[in-house]
Amino acid sequence: MLKINHLNISYQNTPAVKDLSLAVGAGQIVGIAGESGSGKSTMLRSIIGLLGREGRITAGDILFEGRQLQRMKDRELEKIRGKDIAMIFQQPESSFDPVTTIGKQFCEAVRVHEKVSKKEALDRGRELLEKLHFQDPERILDSYAFELSGGMCQRAAIALGMVCNPRLLLADEPTSALDVTVQSQTADVLMELRENFGTSILMVTHNIGVIAYMADYVGVMYKGRLVEWGKKEEILLEAVHPYTKALIRAVPKFGEPYEKQIPCTEEITEGKPVAVSPTHWILGGGR
Ligand SMILES: Nc1ncnc2c1ncn2[C@@H]1O[C@H](COP(=O)(O)OP(=O)(O)OP(=O)(O)O)[C@@H](O)[C@H]1O
Ligand SMILES: [Mg+2]
Repeated sequence: MLKINHLNISYQNTPAVKDLSLAVGAGQIVGIAGESGSGKSTMLRSIIGLLGREGRITAGDILFEGRQLQRMKDRELEKIRGKDIAMIFQQPESSFDPVTTIGKQFCEAVRVHEKVSKKEALDRGRELLEKLHFQDPERILDSYAFELSGGMCQRAAIALGMVCNPRLLLADEPTSALDVTVQSQTADVLMELRENFGTSILMVTHNIGVIAYMADYVGVMYKGRLVEWGKKEEILLEAVHPYTKALIRAVPKFGEPYEKQIPCTEEITEGKPVAVSPTHWILGGGR
């Protein structure tokens, strides 16, 4: 479904993603973990051509169902965005236009790609909002994004991302603004999407718990590189890379600075991939 080969991205001349390769199969859920600034959002936004003015892919390919996304013109990408590939942004407010009601944005999102009535588009929005545990979806459709709390806005953004049944959903910290109970309900809704429609999900999160619950495969990023990749069990139970091990151990402890618990040296981020099993590899094999 999605294949990223040797991707390099820079902001002006500063590299943010280095030689990153990964694949997401049909119906798979892939979780990407890693510390702040490791390039997770950059990698995710590059897939649908949203790196902003400063960001540029300097090498590598991004293939979606065999088509090279990074070579597409804006008009071609616009056809794919929302319909085939949807993105849930790290700041949920960025998914919405502040001066348009949420309901109108559901209508626009659907009607850009499909010939349906406004009523049908709104019905779809309402149904998704209900699934995402909104008590009063009608009120949400009539609201502007700034009238919602951060958590509500995040759930509404997830609904908006899902409204055209994309085949691939890119989700940047989709549950970070939600309280714990809503987090697990939202994770369930994302997993239902996969069950019912075979949607593939590439998700970035700090939350190892969300990864443990949802993901089939896990990648760990550190300083712009993917340093370990494997099936969820391989990463959570048999991590080999020192950074991954530290990340999994690092349940924040009172009185201890977080960074102290994540030691990692350059040698183990600059090497070549080494296979641990047919589905599991780490960086670190020589230079
Ligand atoms: N628009 C931008 N212009 C310049 N540099 C940027 C821009 N966006 C991100 N960067 C830089 O690229 C690097 C990777 O940032 P990115 O946002 O991808 O990290 P992240 O892993 O998503 O972090 P977080 O977990 O905090 O969201 C950082 O050094 C960041 O400062
Ligand atoms: Mg980010």
